[in-house]
Amino acid sequence: MKIVYNISQQSPLWRRSTAMVNGKQSGDGQKKHDRVPELKPGYVLAVDFAEIDEFEERARRFRIGDEDPTEFQLFRLSRGTYGQRQENNQMMRIKLPFGGLTADQMDALAEVSEKYSGLHRGHITTRENFQFHFVNLDDSAEVMRVVGRAGLTTREACAHTVRNITGCPYAGIAPEEVFDTTPWLTAYARHMLRNPICQRLPRKFKTSFSNCPNDCAGSNFHDLGFIAKKQVDANGNEVIGFEMRVGGGTSTMPRKADTIWEFARCEDGEYIKVAEAVLRVFDREGDLPGLLRKNLNKARIKFLLQKIGADAFREKVVEELGKEWADEPLDMEKLTQLAPEVPSDPVPDDGLGKAPGYERWRWTNVTPQKQAGFFAVTVTIPIGNISTSQFRELARIMRKYSGGHARTNQNQNLILRWVREESLPMLHRELLAIGLGDAEAGLLADVVACPGADSCKLAITSSNQAGYSMREELIKFGYDDPEVNKVSVKISGCPNGCGQHHLAGIGLQGSSYKVGKLEVPCYDVFLGGVGYAGIEKFATRVTRVAAKKAHLAIDRILQVYQAERSSPAESFVEFVERVGPKHFEAPLEEFKWVGSLAEDPEMYMDWGHTDLFEVIRGEGECAAGEVPLVRTAAAPVELP
Ligand code: HEM
Ligand code: SF4
Repeated sequence: MKIVYNISQQSPLWRRSTAMVNGKQSGDGQKKHDRVPELKPGYVLAVDFAEIDEFEERARRFRIGDEDPTEFQLFRLSRGTYGQRQENNQMMRIKLPFGGLTADQMDALAEVSEKYSGLHRGHITTRENFQFHFVNLDDSAEVMRVVGRAGLTTREACAHTVRNITGCPYAGIAPEEVFDTTPWLTAYARHMLRNPICQRLPRKFKTSFSNCPNDCAGSNFHDLGFIAKKQVDANGNEVIGFEMRVGGGTSTMPRKADTIWEFARCEDGEYIKVAEAVLRVFDREGDLPGLLRKNLNKARIKFLLQKIGADAFREKVVEELGKEWADEPLDMEKLTQLAPEVPSDPVPDDGLGKAPGYERWRWTNVTPQKQAGFFAVTVTIPIGNISTSQFRELARIMRKYSGGHARTNQNQNLILRWVREESLPMLHRELLAIGLGDAEAGLLADVVACPGADSCKLAITSSNQAGYSMREELIKFGYDDPEVNKVSVKISGCPNGCGQHHLAGIGLQGSSYKVGKLEVPCYDVFLGGVGYAGIEKFATRVTRVAAKKAHLAIDRILQVYQAERSSPAESFVEFVERVGPKHFEAPLEEFKWVGSLAEDPEMYMDWGHTDLFEVIRGEGECAAGEVPLVRTAAAPVELP
């Protein structure tokens, strides 16, 4: 069936462009998938074992010097395998569209953690992936096979491709949702994976799907964000679709996305076609060749939107939709097919009652589903790190309580859905037994942090270690003020912002300063970000504090807020907005300064480290490409 694009109901500008849509253009972008691996029932993405064999062979050739290192690096990244700060060690990223995973997949991740990851743990990322660090390149193909047999792939988890697709973890169960976006997200993910049109984009491309205007998946800071909407058509029928936003991002240029399409229908795949047109325009750099590809640090689609504006970009998308490729029908039934989530059988009551802390955990970590009698439970995963035995136990718990399914979220936690109300006390006790029964999900102490200097080449500070320490300190502070507890703390080890500190109430960005020849690990403090709910404003930088005083700085910020807010109901973000972030500069002044090495040795060591701190930054592989990076690696510091 030919798709008729929903242009007439867009802005007047789009109506003017209709002629271009109808006038066919050809010769451009006629490429199709050449080899589509079979999609096994129940899997979200197709796994291609021949592709893994190819990876193994090329890795072997690279080892003996038979591969061009730059070409191999790009190929390796497109298969989800990153270099680390430590030579010969890889970070492997496993793609999880909508963060969804099964108990069998959890068992496969346990095997990876046990046999192949030097840290014997996995890490949930802020984009709902799983990552494993310290994997030997020679083992990478085997890791791909282990997860592949369980239906997971690392393909296009990195490099200049369509990265993992994040979604609201409550899709299908949220009382307020417009509709369940899971099958539509899945169709988009399947359509883009291995698609020749997006194998070497100017830069990576991150997509999110939200189920309602609350926009929990964060379309405003994604390259492409979908927000579920309903409309009534001319015949009075309800039609489901998406508002589409393009060009958001954080990092060194936080930018709010622009709405480029008010409503793209789901059922006939219009939203996928519009997205494909967006990608084709991006790939052509908006017909300004070299605009993006000349500097990979300024190559995200947001820079194109910034340059030409949303209206001109939209016109190009409309023009693109007039080409022949756009008329090819999509098999939406096949693309949206998914195994249903079915609750576990009821578990007989063990008669042990509620464990200590149950009521608080139930209050902060459990939310009712729209399906009566069922609940979604957030398993608080400190800093998103899961050990081998926890993987295995979680797989067992998922089978017992949540129908063998779970979803990761952007706060680096795990959501168990379809839990029966009567099972909640037993589930809590089982989670406590494996060290994952903490309350406070999504609240002050539930700190988010990127991997940082313990593995990442670009890091300045050990944000992962700082994350654990901040978490401990915030728990010790023991705030029981509900508005204070709603403040989010997110930490990134450098300005790239993988820990999403731009979106936090209190964000910490790794930095340093010099005292003589010595270097002090520091954090730039950002205040007033509003998380995922329809961001209007990113957090603003206030000042720089010593890393080892960051917890004291957070405490001071919260004290200022408590003492000066206009009423107990004024939220932290509203307060920062009212008084302005600079209001905090003076109260934080004392946390900037440190004594000499003899007086204050702790200040010269990063969190979790006992050696003197030094800034060592290498070339970032996340921005690897055909032209050299413009980013400058800081020179190694000479210590006395
Ligand atoms: C090998 C380790 C990593 C390196 C070298 C790296 C590098 C980068 C770079 C260069 C950027 C900025 C890109 C740009 O805006 O042009 C970035 C952004 C980002 N990365 Fe990573 N990254 C790494 C790991 C991670 C991890 C572990 C996560 C998730 C926890 C992550 C998630 C993100 C997010 C959410 C952003 C910023 C948001 C946005 O896309 O605008 N990255 N990363
Ligand atoms: S924010 Fe910086 S330190 Fe953290 S993972 Fe990203 S690039 Fe590495």
